[in-house]
Amino acid sequence: MIVDRLGRRFRNLRVSLTAACNYACNYCVPDGKRLMKAKYELPATEMLKAVTLLQQAAGIDKIRITGGEPLVTPKFDDFLLGVMQLPLKDVSLTTNGQLLLKKQDVIKASGISRINVSLDTLNPVKFKQIARSGDLETVLAGIDAMLDMGLRVKINMVPLRNQNMAEVLPLLDYCLERDIELRFIELMRMGHLLTGNGFQTDFLSMEGLLDIISEKYEFARTDAPHDSTAVRFRIPDKGVFGIIANESEPFCRACTRLRLSSDGNLYGCLSNSNHRYIGDLLDLPPHVALPRIQNILVDALADKKLAFQGEVTVMKLIGG
Ligand code: 5AD
Repeated sequence: MIVDRLGRRFRNLRVSLTAACNYACNYCVPDGKRLMKAKYELPATEMLKAVTLLQQAAGIDKIRITGGEPLVTPKFDDFLLGVMQLPLKDVSLTTNGQLLLKKQDVIKASGISRINVSLDTLNPVKFKQIARSGDLETVLAGIDAMLDMGLRVKINMVPLRNQNMAEVLPLLDYCLERDIELRFIELMRMGHLLTGNGFQTDFLSMEGLLDIISEKYEFARTDAPHDSTAVRFRIPDKGVFGIIANESEPFCRACTRLRLSSDGNLYGCLSNSNHRYIGDLLDLPPHVALPRIQNILVDALADKKLAFQGEVTVMKLIGG
C-alpha cells in the first residue's frame, strides 16, 4: 500500500466526468469567461477502466462523481451504471441539481443511495446573481424527486459574506425540515479568487457562520465519520449540519483524496496543480499498467500539501 510519512493514503477518488458546467457561479468562473469543457475528455468506458485500475493499485473504495456538472455530459448514464457495478464501498454524486428531474430514471436504475446538491441560496434573484444561469425551482423539484425516491440528500452551500449571508438560516431551516444534512463549505482561494479581492470580500469563517446560526439555534459539536472533512454540529431534536472548514480547521493532514479529471489526469492535492496523465495506461495489460500507475500514485501522494495554500486551478476542472 502507498502511504506517506503522515500515514496518508488514497481511499477516496473524485471523478470529474466533464469540465463543462451549465452554471457560471461567480466564485468559480471568472467574469465573462465561461469555462468550457476540456478539449479532450475520456469516454465513459475509459473513465471506468481508470476507476478499476485505481481501485486495484491504490485500494480506492469510495467514489464521488463530480464535474464541472456531471449531469450535463451524455457519458453520465453509462458511467453511473458502470461504476455502480464495481465492488466499491460507497458511490456518491455531486451535482448542481439542475438536471436531476431529467436524470431521475437512470439515477433510480443505478441504485445509488446518496447525492449532494450544491445550492447557495433559496432566493431566486440571488440564485441568478450567483449561478448566473439555471433556475431555482427546477433544482428544488429535483431535490424533492430524489427525496421521494428515498435517496439520502446533502446540500452544499458556500457562504459568501457579501452575497448570501441572509440565506444561511433559511437554507438551514429548509434542510432541517426535510432531514437533509446541510454542509457549509468555507470559500477556498481557487482560480480567480487567488489573485483578485473576491476572497477577502466574500470569505465567511466558521466562527462567523456559527454566530449567524446561534441567532436561531443551540447546537453542539458532534462526531464526524472517521475520514470526513466536515466538522459536524447537532441541533437537539432538529438535526445535524456540517462545515467544511478548509481555512478555520484545515484537514489536509488526514486527506485521503485523489482526483481524476475528465481529460485523464490524476491530481493528488487540491492545493497543487501538479497532475499526471494516465489515459495511456488504460488499455495496457494489468501487469504492465499496475506498476506504472503505482509509481504515479507515489508521486501524486507526494504532491499533497500540509495546508491549503490556494491554487490557480478552478474547482470546475477538478471537481472540488
Ligand atoms: N470555494 C469553496 N467551494 C467551492 N465550490 C466551487 N468553488 C469553490 C470555492 N472556491 C463548491 C461548489 C460545489 C462544490 C463541488 O465546490 O459550490 O458545491
